[in-house]
Amino acid sequence: MSQNNSSREARVYPSEFGETFKRSVAGASADLRARFRRVRAYTDRLVAPLGDEDRVAQSMPDASPVKWHLAHTTWFFETFVLVEHLPGYEVFDPSYAYLFNSYYEALGPRQPRRHRGLLTRPTSQQIDGYRRHVDTHMARLLAAEPASDLEPLVLLGIAHEEQHQELLLMDVLHLFAQSPLKPAYQADWPADESGRPGRFRFHAGGLRDLGDDASKFAFDNERPRHKTWIEPFEIGDRLVTNRQWLRFMNDGGYTRAALWLSDGWALVQAEQWEAPLYWERAANGTDWRAITLGGLRGIEPDAAVTHISYYEAVAFANWAGARLPTEAEWEAAAVVGLLEQAEDVAWQWTQSAYGAYPGFRASANAVGEYNGKFMVGQMVLRGGASVTSPGHARHSYRNFFRPGQRWMFSGLRLARDLEPGPKADVETDGFEADIIAGLSVHPKTTPPKYFYDEAGSALFEEICITPEYYVTRAETALLQSVVHELSGIAAEAVLVEFGSGASDKTRLILDAAPQIGTYVPIDISPDALHQAAERISRDYPALQVVPLADDFTRAVALPAHVGDAPRVGFFPGSTIGNFTPQEAMWFLRSVRSLLGAKAQLIIGVDMIKDPAMLVAAYDDSMSVTARFNKNLLARINRELHGDFDLDAFDHHAIWNAQLQRVEMHLVSRIDQLVHVAGHGFAFKAGERLHTESSHKFSVESFSALAVSAGWAIDRYWLSSTPEFAIFSLTAPG
Ligand code: AVI
Repeated sequence: MSQNNSSREARVYPSEFGETFKRSVAGASADLRARFRRVRAYTDRLVAPLGDEDRVAQSMPDASPVKWHLAHTTWFFETFVLVEHLPGYEVFDPSYAYLFNSYYEALGPRQPRRHRGLLTRPTSQQIDGYRRHVDTHMARLLAAEPASDLEPLVLLGIAHEEQHQELLLMDVLHLFAQSPLKPAYQADWPADESGRPGRFRFHAGGLRDLGDDASKFAFDNERPRHKTWIEPFEIGDRLVTNRQWLRFMNDGGYTRAALWLSDGWALVQAEQWEAPLYWERAANGTDWRAITLGGLRGIEPDAAVTHISYYEAVAFANWAGARLPTEAEWEAAAVVGLLEQAEDVAWQWTQSAYGAYPGFRASANAVGEYNGKFMVGQMVLRGGASVTSPGHARHSYRNFFRPGQRWMFSGLRLARDLEPGPKADVETDGFEADIIAGLSVHPKTTPPKYFYDEAGSALFEEICITPEYYVTRAETALLQSVVHELSGIAAEAVLVEFGSGASDKTRLILDAAPQIGTYVPIDISPDALHQAAERISRDYPALQVVPLADDFTRAVALPAHVGDAPRVGFFPGSTIGNFTPQEAMWFLRSVRSLLGAKAQLIIGVDMIKDPAMLVAAYDDSMSVTARFNKNLLARINRELHGDFDLDAFDHHAIWNAQLQRVEMHLVSRIDQLVHVAGHGFAFKAGERLHTESSHKFSVESFSALAVSAGWAIDRYWLSSTPEFAIFSLTAPG
């Protein structure tokens, strides 16, 4: 996990607290002893700026007095560790079990939570004595190698104290916010870090492992690790800022019931919320200020908004046309490094209710009350905050609060679903209808776009590296040598790729034109698309990636959030050759209208050449293309209840000189009857199923096609043998 290393920690915490705790060669006990000492010393340091009076008051039932935190964390070690594991240990004061038990029913009655602030006795000095007493005995206990059941308890006690360190700062801020003097906890408390606004980053869907892998300490609620299905989604790489929040407020965010959950709206009314907690109007009546640990300060517009409830986070997300991420989405995105401000600014509300992971078991003893019994009525927050103790948070960490609470350092990042496309239609109904129609005519034919299921897409990648299939290499080499000559790509331009597959060639363009702001890969194969989009997103962090799982021949509009910047189309691989001439014309026309007024289209076109070379490219010696061709039959069998015998067909490639195209066929070896989706289709021995045409062009024939589709030829580049061309087309006038 990333360590908290923001300037805030650097200034507040001595560096020894920020280091990763490592198991030393001296053994587990020395390591545990050192960690115990550090956590206790860090608490002492946190309370050092506070006077005795600051330590006693309780500002609300959710908050506890500082003195109580100091005693309760000590009681935790005494009760769960020393009493159980240090022979002969006698409790410091038996009355403390009542005073400082927080919520452990198994350990008996306790001081009501809302009355913790009434405990003027024991005095602060007595609590200090209690802490030193327990510290001394813990040191004795940890002097020896810890028993196997002791170490997890001590680690729990350390993590527990770290949680109270954060609570202590939250509670002090809340207490000081009630004071007319608005005192600072620490006058030079660092200002909230400012930065750029967030961008949406794409994350592929699929089956993911969620939760802690049990290799080091984690709370029981982070386990067991388990599989979770997530749909493809987009997530903001940074937190929502105060500037964005002010826009929400100025747009009536707190007065428009339609944005709010019902309970949230009731709370807004009852509490008269009009801004995050701790915000108050400045003397001029318009500007806002916030009470911080450094005292009353102006709002830093480009810092993350904090101290908001779940209800406010949801209302904001609704207003922004987005949603909150689920905790699974948050964790998946954090693990692959998509998130900035993950653990060092503010806890981030998720839309996930706090509940048990599948297989969760709370321990049988009192420690089992730590997390499990709170698994109702609360929402999960992920990440970590500026006030979280160094090294405490991790990607699997599940914080939780009730939806109306907001005294913690809580913020939000947005997420959104991908635009729904006609994917299902293309993959099911369209597939069946097209195949049945194609097998019903003579000669039998099937549309080439159905080659590209997951296996087909992988086989196509394999084709591209066969010695005979020159197309990919010729195009890549040409593109490499001319890409810097591509001119006129505007700042923040939108690059739209048709049939993007693995998005490999795209990198050449993205590297040469870093001013491109958005990349929209369109591909019919969702798996290949989303994997490629994830890789591009990771390697080009400044780029907005908006994948569209769609049949690119039918893509008529881009998602609204792509924006109006000039659009550049990219259609490599000579895929234009897989259309009939009419389809090619129609496609080029529709691309023009999709890309808009200032459109540019960079398109790869394979040239007519020696027929032997052409046929070899589609009938390679390792039979990869034959497998690619026959994979269509396997797909029909699988998805349309077909009974094609793949061995009863031969792969066949020919050059059709008249129509200037390479054709791929599957030739029936025998007379046979094949069934697909309940229909019977007779094949005679030698009969062909025409599965693909790859039209080849001359500069003249392609130019004529482009011009008749309404494009102007900006320029083109032609490679030497094997001849391949890249055309730059522009929308005239
Ligand atoms: C995707 N398309 C341009 C390839 C082509 O060359 O027609 C598909 C292909 N078919 C067999 N080999 C490659």
